[in-house]
Amino acid sequence: MPHFSYQNGVLHAERVALTDIAKQFGSPTYVYSKAALVEHFSAYANACKKNGRNADTALVCYSVKSNSNLAVLHLLSKLGSGFDIVSGGELLRVIAAGGNPRKVIFSGVGKNEEEMRLALSHDILCFNVESVAELHRLNQVAKELGKRAPVSLRVNPNVDAKTHPYISTGLKENKFGIAYEDALLTYRTAAGMSNIKVVGIDCHIGSQLLDDAPLLQALDKVIELVDQLAEEGIVLHHLDIGGGIGITYDQERPVAIGAYLDRLFARVDQWRQRRHNGSPIQVMFEPGRSIAGNAGILLTKVEYLKHGETKNFAVVDAAMNDLMRPAMYEAWHAVQPVLQRTSAVQTYDVVGPVCESGDWLARGRALAIEQGDLLAIMSAGAYGMSMASNYNTRGRAAEVLVDGDRVHLVRKREVPENLFALESIVD
Ligand code: LLP
Repeated sequence: MPHFSYQNGVLHAERVALTDIAKQFGSPTYVYSKAALVEHFSAYANACKKNGRNADTALVCYSVKSNSNLAVLHLLSKLGSGFDIVSGGELLRVIAAGGNPRKVIFSGVGKNEEEMRLALSHDILCFNVESVAELHRLNQVAKELGKRAPVSLRVNPNVDAKTHPYISTGLKENKFGIAYEDALLTYRTAAGMSNIKVVGIDCHIGSQLLDDAPLLQALDKVIELVDQLAEEGIVLHHLDIGGGIGITYDQERPVAIGAYLDRLFARVDQWRQRRHNGSPIQVMFEPGRSIAGNAGILLTKVEYLKHGETKNFAVVDAAMNDLMRPAMYEAWHAVQPVLQRTSAVQTYDVVGPVCESGDWLARGRALAIEQGDLLAIMSAGAYGMSMASNYNTRGRAAEVLVDGDRVHLVRKREVPENLFALESIVD
């Protein structure tokens, strides 16, 4: 994470010392680097451009669920990003952040009628439909509004993404998408619906993929379907390959985004020459983690050091409600002390104040720390704050965006009154 580095023994976000951020905004606080966000988004955007593509032939739709802070969405929107959403709430966030709803694609297995109406009223780019039942509902809702809903079918290519089972989505046993074998039939059904306009095809096989081979395999299977559909006169405008490449949390070496996109576009171009006389098909990506993940850290303070017989604990002021990933997936996040000390290193479990044994952020880490020190939980920009909860009536952390030597508070820390404001007492 080059935008988070030690300068004179103090960990900085860009040019701002994390000690200063803690002084000004308290802890726990999510700290994002603007330069990192720009760099990571540009890795996709530049690879598209390099392959001679413009907004008509390639579109990066940032996956809002990974980090949905308005400042992040606004920044990416200014860079030309589209957005992949999974709820009406995320659509309203995109709009509030100044994003263009016409660059929004709506994924998810459980869209309700209200969400469909909202998305149709904002003329979003596409619904990624995941079942026949959803198709019927969308057709009906669109009819009521006198509209035609633009649709991609999310096809399940039955490819093993070789990632954590909880974040693998492209296998037959997953709840996502339409089975590959049923895709043609479902497309025919969709094409025959009065208020559905078939525009694309979509797949998403999982998250935190380090290798692009499964993605390219999925691409080949999707391309096969596009050809079969074309033979039936169902001509698609776009092909959406789903989420992005994984990131380095520890020692992982993910394929470079540029190299992946070069390989992907080479295949798409070969196929176009072969089958379509070069007629364009827009390629879409829905990356989240690879844009936000290593653009953010969770800054936390050591409240207590507890030295036990078998284990030492560093009890910090962040907890599983702030960063769910370790408790939920046994995910590994690097922990770096903000102040580099020369004192003796000891092995600690870094745990939070929540009343659950599962409330840990890191285990067995060698750290030279003292009570009151600050720690940075690294690689926490994606699926960190966006998955945070209020368990134990803990207000969610503040969020700041660092830009060079400036720090912007982009979400205030929640106070307990916020947390029960919607509740009432009954006698
Ligand atoms: N598109 C769809 C349809 C998705 O379901 C996802 C992620 C993405 C795109 C973005 O994938 P990415 O580029 O971020 O890999 N909470 C888990 C990750 C869940 C991923 C869910 N879907 C975690 O913390 O690891």
